Amino acid sequence: MTKKVFVTHQLPGARIHDLARYCELNMWMGPGLLGVENLRQELRGCHGLICLLTDRVDATLLAAVPDLEFVSSMSVGVDHVDLSALSARNIPLGNTPGVLVDTTADTAFALMLAAARRVVEADNFVRQGNWTQKNAWAPDFFTGKDVSGATIGIIGLGQIGQAVARRAAGFGMEILAWNRTSRQVPGVESVSLEELLQRSDFVSLHVALSDETRYLMNAERIALMKSDAILINTARGGIVDEEALAVALADGHLAAAGIDVFENEPVSPDNALLSLKNVVVAPHIGSATTLTRGKMADIAVENAIAALEGRPMIHCVNPDVYR
Ligand code: DGY
Repeated sequence: MTKKVFVTHQLPGARIHDLARYCELNMWMGPGLLGVENLRQELRGCHGLICLLTDRVDATLLAAVPDLEFVSSMSVGVDHVDLSALSARNIPLGNTPGVLVDTTADTAFALMLAAARRVVEADNFVRQGNWTQKNAWAPDFFTGKDVSGATIGIIGLGQIGQAVARRAAGFGMEILAWNRTSRQVPGVESVSLEELLQRSDFVSLHVALSDETRYLMNAERIALMKSDAILINTARGGIVDEEALAVALADGHLAAAGIDVFENEPVSPDNALLSLKNVVVAPHIGSATTLTRGKMADIAVENAIAALEGRPMIHCVNPDVYR
């Protein structure tokens, strides 16, 4: 029997063109995001799903698709998928680790530099015609904070956290890290979360979103940070209590933030963080280079092809399903 596979978005990369050789393929052609109801309709009778991090694959959806045999997500984070509901049905979940490590670490650094040196604020200032003879170069004109030589605290020392550490070493930074398991990396001082927050000039988040890490950066922990510190989040929005962060940034308890991910995406224009000029924001572009997105899509397709051929996926989040 030919298996049916649904892909929730047109994918880049080379491998997607081969997928139709292995299955009956149906792909959402957009525009924009698919939405919950469309996903449910399109997935009916399907054996495989290739999805994005914007597709919510929850228990309700899974209950409506009894034929589903595999899910392959074009993402490393899988918090959009109900993993226990999948595993309970022995459905493998594929993801795309590795290939986005450097790209995401670059984004963390881009946000760090932009927030520290007020790049976006300065750009707006020039474009809006505010750079005049009366309002020009002066000793305190657009002064920010040095990244070079500062102390960075990396929360989560997985592959992306380590790639951030390598960049930080190049900037001559003192590097602290906190990790769930006490991972030792040369040149990185392993400390408690509290000590990291108290000592760091920059704090960069690199943990996955889970029940343990949701609101890890709550009001209490944000209050432990130095008042001239900068918080960078390229991981997941749900790791930070956004309201508490906005309050800290507005009342001067924190100098700035660089935020690529929000608890609810796309972020609402009413989100308090968007009204603060000491916050640099981006629309979840951590892995957004043409090359990296192509590689991610190729892995997502490879995972699907493996499943269609009855092989274990190359990158499987719940490999226990193969036992
Ligand atoms: C992922 O793959 O989880 C990243 O957030 C994409 O940028």
